[in-house]
Amino acid sequence: MTYAFRTEGLVKRFGATTALAGVDLAARPGTVLGVLGPNGAGKTTAVRILATLLRPDGGRAEVAGHDVVRQAEEVRRRIGLTGQYASVDEDLTGTENLVMIGRLLDLPRAEARARAAELLERFDLTEAAGRRARTYSGGMRRRLDLAASLVARPEVVYLDEPTTGLDPAKRDDVWALVRQQVSQGVTVLLTTQYLEEADALADDIAVIDRGAVIAHGTPHELKGVVGGQTLRVRPLDPARLPEVATLLERIAGQRPDSPGRGMLGVPVDGDAALAPVVAALAERGIAVTELSLRLPSLDEVFHTLTGGRSRTGEPVAEQDREGAAA
Ligand SMILES: Nc1ncnc2c1ncn2[C@@H]1O[C@H](COP(=O)(O)OP(=O)(O)OP(=O)(O)O)[C@@H](O)[C@H]1O
Ligand SMILES: [Mg+2]
Repeated sequence: MTYAFRTEGLVKRFGATTALAGVDLAARPGTVLGVLGPNGAGKTTAVRILATLLRPDGGRAEVAGHDVVRQAEEVRRRIGLTGQYASVDEDLTGTENLVMIGRLLDLPRAEARARAAELLERFDLTEAAGRRARTYSGGMRRRLDLAASLVARPEVVYLDEPTTGLDPAKRDDVWALVRQQVSQGVTVLLTTQYLEEADALADDIAVIDRGAVIAHGTPHELKGVVGGQTLRVRPLDPARLPEVATLLERIAGQRPDSPGRGMLGVPVDGDAALAPVVAALAERGIAVTELSLRLPSLDEVFHTLTGGRSRTGEPVAEQDREGAAA
């Protein structure tokens, strides 16, 4: 199989810290590999090695079959990088930033200008093109940063937390752009703190913790790691919750818990419980506003895999905890 990029047994130490302790990652061309892990797991270190910005201490990494150490030039020609820490020059305008990158890539001036205009248009920055980047909002900066990584028409793009700090609408814009790139055959390595983002974009996910891959698979496969599904019911009339609890317990054989206000959830093995629950609700004339069968969220998977440590060190959001206790 040919890979757009891959690492084998990648090791990187910083003094006494082992940032990567033998990491294997691989992505097929035209797919998105999501790399998830708590703070300090080694995500950015892996990205920087794949981007030729850092030399590994052991193992190897290659992009389109080119070794990142011995064939760094070949690798650089093929990649685009959007760093966790934005890399645009604040004193230059949007246009100047992109033209400068084009010139650094040896594009003729006219071509660099055309490419800059095209990307600014695509990233909805045309109006701000003549303003210095320091005047841009966070979302505009992110988009300019992303545009900068695409000037070279890379085959492989590394996006290290591309949507951190963006509002939901801007985040959706970035997701659309990532999908657009992938549909054109670009391969993406995406690191993110947002498991929802990995779920939405990634074909495959590698979960890393303390410098090692602890799980790997499609989002669907990873959800299977935690196992089971949750049946949820929200009656229209909250006064009927006790009745719903009784019928769920009878059908599912377990006491339901309350994953959210006015809602009950109970673990089930598959969809077999759905029909009897619907029938029992109808029989009692209990109207519902929500009835669902759901797989565990990637958040739940992540917490199970990493032993419950929060990926950001922050308290786990209510929504993330939903169903986890089930
Ligand atoms: N230049 C460096 N010098 C010393 N230690 C470093 C350096 N870069 C990274 N580390 C350490 O290596 C480990 C992995 O860091 P890395 O930045 O790769 O994690 P990360 O998964 O990207 O975390 P985050 O989610 O916070 O971005 C951490 O313990 C970090 O402190
Ligand atoms: Mg990082």
